[in-house]
Amino acid sequence: MVTGTEGETTAEALWERVNRLSWYHAIELEPGRLTPGWFDLREYVHHYGLPERMDGMRALDIGTWDGWWAFEMERRGAEVVALDLDDERDLDWPPRRRPKEFSPEPRGAGFRLAREALGSQVERVNMSIYHATPEELGTFDFIFCGSVLIHLRDQFLALERIAGLCTGTFVSAEEYDWAASLLPFPVSRYRVDRDSDIVFWQPAKKTWKRMLWSAGFDRVEEYGTFTLRPRDRSFKVRHVVLHAHKL
Ligand SMILES: C[S@@+](CC[C@H](N)C(=O)[O-])C[C@H]1O[C@@H](n2cnc3c(N)ncnc32)[C@H](O)[C@@H]1O
Repeated sequence: MVTGTEGETTAEALWERVNRLSWYHAIELEPGRLTPGWFDLREYVHHYGLPERMDGMRALDIGTWDGWWAFEMERRGAEVVALDLDDERDLDWPPRRRPKEFSPEPRGAGFRLAREALGSQVERVNMSIYHATPEELGTFDFIFCGSVLIHLRDQFLALERIAGLCTGTFVSAEEYDWAASLLPFPVSRYRVDRDSDIVFWQPAKKTWKRMLWSAGFDRVEEYGTFTLRPRDRSFKVRHVVLHAHKL
């Protein structure tokens, strides 16, 4: 149970704190009561093919934001490390779209509150995937990376890092370019000036597959595709889920 101010231990104190933050993930902190996030992933989780049980696995969640995937893997039995960046300045910005001012508040407040409320042991590490090496973090039996690579300037360096950390299975779920996927060769569409969230390159499905293979994964399988929508259904994002292994 979470405490409010001065050690007060009530559900209301928790929800007051929840409502002071903005949320990306809708996380069920109490039965039937969700944080007011954009995405409720409970209706999509079956598209990703996570193992039902993850007991004994060391798992990594890359780009955890409020931590829904990290807490889900922990719920399935894994010991989980969650990566994200505390400072917005450290995200990848094209120069013309870099904000003039950034929030002085460190990111991750939602994650920390959810961790506390859930009594979770997930360890959140403030580190870019670009710097994530076995020397820094050790290796992982299972790595999850969802809707992160699409926002990176250097998707391939991130994939090389992931391959370097992974001893078992990597599950990747990323936006793909539908039109580019019709071409018979692997291409990526340039999207830096698109008027939406920051995307540098939007690979075709077959391009993502080739990138995972080239980065060091020996077996790459398409688990499926689906369309992700926020809770208010205001937009949609086509995703491809890949499962990759090293032999
Ligand atoms: C669109 S959110 C996806 C959240 C979550 N993975 C999911 O699928 O619901 C992208 C996340 O990636 C994080 N991110 C962006 N660049 C990163 C980097 N270089 N290293 C680690 N995380 C990064 C962002 O801070 C953000 O939390």
